[in-house]
Amino acid sequence: MPVQEVMNQTAKLQLGDKSIDLPVVVGSENEHAVDISKLRSETGYITLDNGFGNTGACRSAITYIDGEKGILRYRGYSMETLAENSTFLEVSWLLIFGELPKPGQVEDLADRIKEHSLLHQDMRHHFEGFPATAHPMAVLSAMINASSCYHPELLENNSIDESSLEVVAMLMAKVSTIAAFSYKKSIGDPQRYPDPSLDYCSNFLHCMFSKPYGRYSAEPEVVRALDLFLMLHADHEQNCSTSTARVVGSSEANLFASMSAAVCALWGPLHGGANQRCIEMLEGIRRDGLDVKKVVERVKNREFKLMGFGHRVYKNSDPRATILKKASDDLLKKLGVDDPLLPIAQELEDVARHDEFFLSRNLYPNVDFYSGIILRTIGIPIEMFTVMFAIGRMPGWIAHWKEQHENPNGRIARPRQVYTGSPERDYVAAGSRG
Ligand code: ACO
Repeated sequence: MPVQEVMNQTAKLQLGDKSIDLPVVVGSENEHAVDISKLRSETGYITLDNGFGNTGACRSAITYIDGEKGILRYRGYSMETLAENSTFLEVSWLLIFGELPKPGQVEDLADRIKEHSLLHQDMRHHFEGFPATAHPMAVLSAMINASSCYHPELLENNSIDESSLEVVAMLMAKVSTIAAFSYKKSIGDPQRYPDPSLDYCSNFLHCMFSKPYGRYSAEPEVVRALDLFLMLHADHEQNCSTSTARVVGSSEANLFASMSAAVCALWGPLHGGANQRCIEMLEGIRRDGLDVKKVVERVKNREFKLMGFGHRVYKNSDPRATILKKASDDLLKKLGVDDPLLPIAQELEDVARHDEFFLSRNLYPNVDFYSGIILRTIGIPIEMFTVMFAIGRMPGWIAHWKEQHENPNGRIARPRQVYTGSPERDYVAAGSRG
């Protein structure tokens, strides 16, 4: 359902002796917005919204979130239902094309991904150029962009539809192979080529963990946990990295460039980097034998933030965290793993859930709090956590890039600013420049 302008409802804005009626628009879940498109041309004013917390940057039909009620839906389907019944590739199709795949379609996507999972041989030289200490997010972003050099025919292709899956399959395939190759490089192991007989997640795990002297074969529970992790990360509407993909794409930059930029945006510790920081924090508490209650006191004294807590949108609970908490409990039980970080995580959660500081600020565990435990259990090294998030988020970024490109009213993103620098100054009077 398209966004509707609400007839007979406007927002009246009084600016000095001038007033303007601004249209009110309403989305398909009854969320209301004031359309300020004409504000500047009619009044000379702009809006100021630090962090864009009140600003709708686009109309989007991909993902719906109700942060107060803890609702997350992809294309209208609840996250809980998808997590129970679907797979990462099905959800990727749903996000990108808008409908659940018909019989054969997801198999087609899986086959195309397998066809593209090998990197061009020459890309080995790029890997050789990176030091072993390179952060895998830097490698991932650089290599996604570098892949575009080997496929110039795709750079001009701005249309993605169900019959032209090429670029979608390529990006989803490459991101997984690049991630595994960069890990192998970082530990000095020979790279393992993808195996087309394996499904998406098993293949990734094979490329990560198979050794020249032994093939890694993943337990079904591990494959399912990874698939669930990727699915739960597949989209989250206008977050920092997705907005980056849209902003870069709005200049009509190609999909590779836009995805590479999104990876960089995801890298930051306040966004995708939080899962890594969260485990580092838990490990620090364990290593130094810290008392959790004292840690919480230090957080309340604003010495640092509790990683894996809080969310710009969810103010009650993060539905992904609820699903992942259960999945991590199940996985640990099935594999018989006794993770020493788990009791610390649980104690932190208990303390924070009863403390006025956290309650009054609606600070609950977010998706990163439990995803770190799952990734650790699977054996993913901590430096790769954010890369795993990027693999999962790739279909969401593609879906947003596609939606933006198909918008006939799309414009290049170009925010305004309120200038706070110096007024005009005299260059000559500023020094001995006469
Ligand atoms: N620990 C302690 N206090 C916190 C935390 C936290 N994790 N998060 C927010 N607060 C406090 C702030 O200090 C602030 O307190 P104040 O009102 O007394 O000044 C209040 O809660 C509101 O915080 P904001 O920074 O305004 O919240 P915002 O919506 O801008 O930030 C964010 C959200 C970035 C997620 C923040 O909660 C945070 O930094 N969390 C830790 C990092 C993290 O886990 N990020 C992952 C997010 S999920 C994702 O990207 C997939």
